[in-house]
Amino acid sequence: MSLLIKNGRIITAGDDYVADIFVDGEAIAAIGKNLTAKADQQIDAKGMLVMPGGIDPHVHLDMPFMGTFSSDTHETGTRAALHGGTTMVIDFVLQKQGHSLREALDEWNGRARGTAVGDYSFHMAVTDFNEGTRAEIQKMVEEEGITSFKTFMAYKGALMIDDRQMVGLMQEVKKQGGMVTVHATNGDMIDYLIAKHKSEGKLSPLYHYLSQPEVTEAEASSRFADMTHYTGCPGYIVHLTCEGALNAVRLATKRNQRVFVETCIQYLLLDASLYEKDFEGAKWVMSPPLRQKKDQATLWAGINQGLVQIVATDHCPFKWEQKLMGKDDFSKIPNGHPAIENRMELLFSEGVSKGRISLNKYVEVTSTNPAKLFGMFPRKGTLAPGSDADIILIDPNEKHTLSAKTHHMNVDYSAYEGWELTGKVKTVVLRGQVAIDKGQCLVKKGYGKFIKRNKVNGIV
Ligand code: URP
Ligand code: ZN
Ligand code: ZN
Repeated sequence: MSLLIKNGRIITAGDDYVADIFVDGEAIAAIGKNLTAKADQQIDAKGMLVMPGGIDPHVHLDMPFMGTFSSDTHETGTRAALHGGTTMVIDFVLQKQGHSLREALDEWNGRARGTAVGDYSFHMAVTDFNEGTRAEIQKMVEEEGITSFKTFMAYKGALMIDDRQMVGLMQEVKKQGGMVTVHATNGDMIDYLIAKHKSEGKLSPLYHYLSQPEVTEAEASSRFADMTHYTGCPGYIVHLTCEGALNAVRLATKRNQRVFVETCIQYLLLDASLYEKDFEGAKWVMSPPLRQKKDQATLWAGINQGLVQIVATDHCPFKWEQKLMGKDDFSKIPNGHPAIENRMELLFSEGVSKGRISLNKYVEVTSTNPAKLFGMFPRKGTLAPGSDADIILIDPNEKHTLSAKTHHMNVDYSAYEGWELTGKVKTVVLRGQVAIDKGQCLVKKGYGKFIKRNKVNGIV
């Protein structure tokens, strides 16, 4: 099959020009003015912005967590992602403590293979680093194409590793050409504060927020940056939320160290006042929690300063009945919120349309940097001959409203209910196939491919 996209305004991380794109099979074959090649299908993109498909490198699909499973499967989650202009996601495999990485990967493959609608890859979360795990890292990188290793400095007893394990893992991952990523919050401090609040009878969602003050994230981010500096391992902080943590990274850059930063759309747009809505605040119970308006300002500036390279979602949806597990105790509310479908349009509307970031920066943080940092560039993350034809068309002027009534995520509320946005994803092409058009998904369960990733060098 071939496809010709005519007269779109093509935006990449570095360019902005009007041209045609000719797609042959799964890849882009040519880009130029007035292309005349005959194609099986043609799209008139006049007035549209034509961009590389979004890559969301932080999602949790069908993940066992806090006594339940996140409610989007690889099928429903990647389909919803496509509706919102995200053509590829990176999901997390969680090693069970006392078990191997291989066992965990087999389990996740069992859930994702043949079910994903959009393309996907995995980060491997190392929750138990020992000599057995060390021996598996090379296989993950060389044979499985899994080159990023996630760590948790919190969630003690289930996911957290200590600094001894962290340094050992970093040394091995550096040797094998991978990157260590981190949930950087001080787990022991948080556990102390949770226990204290509970002993005082403070049990509402507000105390989830008050149990994870900014210092818990700033301290862990600084410690992580120091450990990556010491080991020389490329490091990446996921879901960074606040000024204190970004300042720790800023300091690290003064010694010419690269430690990469991801923030998530919710930390740019929502703030902790939502926890004052009694139990409704559970919709936004996530870790780290939402912060203050001053932190939002720091994060927007951090994007433009190049300190924040990626805007992801940490999509980890739970239905309302699952959130109710913590009705009488905030520490039992499953952590996470739904956004996989909304990231691209929210960031376009609140970022580009409102003049906070440029169109090029938008592409950089939603697609190009995820592809570069996670070993997929230039196959993914740009529009160029030879790249996968993962292409989105955005109408920059169309207004629309977000709602659980119309979204495609498998969750019965929207964290952004009633938000009025400017800019809508109209058409999505995934590896040459029109995947979304006129609000319909045209590719089937199983179309999504597992993308093996290359080694990373810690440079964007
Ligand atoms: O609240 C969150 N973030 N849930 C998902 C797990 C994690 O820490 O990323
Ligand atoms: Zn996390
Ligand atoms: Zn997460």
